[in-house]
Amino acid sequence: MAEWTHKDLLDVQNLKREEIELVLETAKSFREVSARDVKKVPALRGKTVVMLFSENSTRTRTSFELAAKRLSADTINISANSSSIAKGETVLDTARNLEAMNIDAIVIRHPSSGVPDVLARHLKASIINAGDGCRAHPTQALLDLFTIKEKLGRIAGLNVGIVGDILHSRVARSNIWALTRLGARVTVSGPATLMPIGIERLGAYVSYDMDEIVRESDILMLLRLQMERQEDKFLPSIREYAKQFGVNRERLKQAKKDILIMHPGPTNRGVELSAEVADGEYSVILDQVTNGVAVRMAVLYLLLGAKK
Ligand code: CP
Repeated sequence: MAEWTHKDLLDVQNLKREEIELVLETAKSFREVSARDVKKVPALRGKTVVMLFSENSTRTRTSFELAAKRLSADTINISANSSSIAKGETVLDTARNLEAMNIDAIVIRHPSSGVPDVLARHLKASIINAGDGCRAHPTQALLDLFTIKEKLGRIAGLNVGIVGDILHSRVARSNIWALTRLGARVTVSGPATLMPIGIERLGAYVSYDMDEIVRESDILMLLRLQMERQEDKFLPSIREYAKQFGVNRERLKQAKKDILIMHPGPTNRGVELSAEVADGEYSVILDQVTNGVAVRMAVLYLLLGAKK
C-alpha cells in the first residue's frame, strides 16, 4: 500500500494509482463510523478545518463538515458573501489571515480554476479543492470510484458513460482522470457545443450516439446541465436536450440489467434524468452522497492525521 506524502489535495491528476487506492481503502475503514450510534472517532482531535466556499454547495460542504466533526476536528464555515472577501479582500489574503489563527486545513470551493493551487503554494496549511471553476472536483471523483467499487467490486474493465455538459464540468474532468487511471473505459457524450475540443487527450472516447452509450455502459454518470453557465446559448432548448440526452425508463430498457445510474447532484429532474430513474432501482445517487462523508474523512485523515 502507498504512503501518503501530499500536503494538499488539488486534483486526482496529482495522485498515483496506489494513492487513489489508499484513499479508497482508508474510506472503507471510516464507512462504519457514520453508521454508529456515536458517530465520532478521535483521529483529528485538536485540528481545525475551515470551509471557505465562494460558490453554493449542499453535498460537498456538509459532508466535509460532517467528516471533520466525525474525526473530532473543530470546524469553521466561511461564505465569501459574508466574509471580508465581499469588501474586496483577496482570497489569498483571507486564507493568510485564517492561517495566522493556526488553522490546519482549508477546504475551498471557488468559481475560478486554479485558486486552490495558488493557496497551496503560499500556505503551510493543507488545501483541499472542493471544486474550482470548470477544472477539478477531486473528492467527487474519489467518492464516485468508492461507490462503483462498493457496488460492482471493481473498476478496471468497466465501461463508463459520462453524459451532459462536459465543457463546464469539473466532475467530468476529475472522473475521466480517476476512472482511466484505475483501468475503466470512459466515453463522454452531450451536445457538440458542450464538448471541449481535445477531451480525448484526457483518455476519454467521444460519442454522440446516446442509445449506444446506454446499451454499452456498466455505469451511466449523468451530469447536471449547468443552467447558470448557458448564457452563450449552447443549446436550442432544455426540452431538446432532455429529448436527446435525458435518461428515462423507456431509454433504460436497452441498458445492461445491472447498470448503475450516478449523478453528482444537484439533479435537474426531467432534464438529465426522469424522476423515476433518479429514484429507481438502478440509481445509486444517494449512496454517492453517503459515501462522500467516508471519502472526505479519509482525505482529511490522510492529510492531517496519518502523517505524524
Ligand atoms: N456534487 C456536488 O459538488 O454537489 P454540491 O454542489 O451540492 O456540493
